[in-house]
Amino acid sequence: MAEPQIQKGLAGVTVDTTAISKVVPETNSLTYRGYAVQELCAEASFEEVAWLMWNGELPDADELDRFKAEEAKRRELSDDHIEVIRRIPPAAHPMDALRTAVSYLGTMEIAWGGEPELADRDRALDLFAKIPTMIATDYRFRTGEVRIAPREDLPMVENFFNMCFGEVPPPEVIKAFDTSMILYAEHSFNASTFTVRTIASSRSDIFSAVTGGIGSLKGPLHGGANEAVMKMFLEIGDPDTAEQWMREAIARKRLVMGFGHRVYKSGDSRVPTMRSCLEDLAAWKGDDTWIRMSDGLQKVMIDEKGIHPNLDFPAGPSYHMMGFDIEMFTPIFVMSRITGWTAHYLEQNLDNRLIRPLSAYDGVAQRPVPPIGER
Ligand code: COA
Repeated sequence: MAEPQIQKGLAGVTVDTTAISKVVPETNSLTYRGYAVQELCAEASFEEVAWLMWNGELPDADELDRFKAEEAKRRELSDDHIEVIRRIPPAAHPMDALRTAVSYLGTMEIAWGGEPELADRDRALDLFAKIPTMIATDYRFRTGEVRIAPREDLPMVENFFNMCFGEVPPPEVIKAFDTSMILYAEHSFNASTFTVRTIASSRSDIFSAVTGGIGSLKGPLHGGANEAVMKMFLEIGDPDTAEQWMREAIARKRLVMGFGHRVYKSGDSRVPTMRSCLEDLAAWKGDDTWIRMSDGLQKVMIDEKGIHPNLDFPAGPSYHMMGFDIEMFTPIFVMSRITGWTAHYLEQNLDNRLIRPLSAYDGVAQRPVPPIGER
């Protein structure tokens, strides 16, 4: 029998079609439902992009108004749900807290996979509206603060800042955050989205699929990289030492967070837009420390290894400048990626086949179980 071809990490394997997003590494382009992500960042809000993800078209003015009102109405959590979040040990990582909080939401109704699409769309909207409240509630409890309830009169991003910090920051901060939400929303068959689709493919429910997606995103090779980037920046400390730090990291063959990508090999299409937000934030703060550090690190990495920064590289320091704790960066990524994940969940159900690849066995050859005295 011919030896099976192993595609480690499924690299280069096309497993299905999708109409949600298209990544073209050759031209560094990323489109959502046919629209370039950079154009969406310039012309649309995160709420419009969420609608686009689920419906395939941008909303008209009436649809957007109704959608925003519906989202605002669904933000609050039940008392029991708040209590579950309160009881999570403060030392737990906020991604673990969010995974638990999302899973708890799934216990409040009996959900099975592949139900009428409308039921799952409704659940997707519920997750979209409630996840920011879960993140902010957990943040307030873990920092010993009083919880701030969601406010229906504020737009989604403004409300998130208010629930975390008790105030709404200036427009440039809101714009940078909204842009990061659009950029993080969707990226074809990345590890967490594939996890969501794999769980969907067994006809499991949307809450289970999203809980699995959160577990996958947490890893530092995936979403957890935005946290790791900021830890690295703080470890380096002084931007004037960044180039030397990177030379030493390369010499030691260290894996440098925020660089490299499975699909993009000559630059991540989302980086220039996020970098420009980082510059706006630096101007707002009057502090270019992280800009100078980014420049020093990427110059050496690109010159010496030809490896380019990915979205997490400018996103990490951006969230830091906005005032978020490092451990909140990946939960914030979930706030955005919930749109892509749930769109993929719905798409998988439209034309489902159980995802079940093969493996090539390379363990010991078949042998008899020895009698008890000979083991
Ligand atoms: N730092 C140092 N070297 C890196 C690197 C990084 N961040 N990313 C890739 N490389 C090197 C690899 O060591 C490998 O070198 P080799 O050929 O000498 O062994 C080469 O580049 C190819 O990398 P490979 O591991 O095949 O890439 P991959 O497609 O399997 O992995 C990532 C992609 C994203 C997992 C990887 O680049 C990485 O771990 N990056 C850091 C984490 C990160 O930022 N993740 C967020 C992704 S959006």
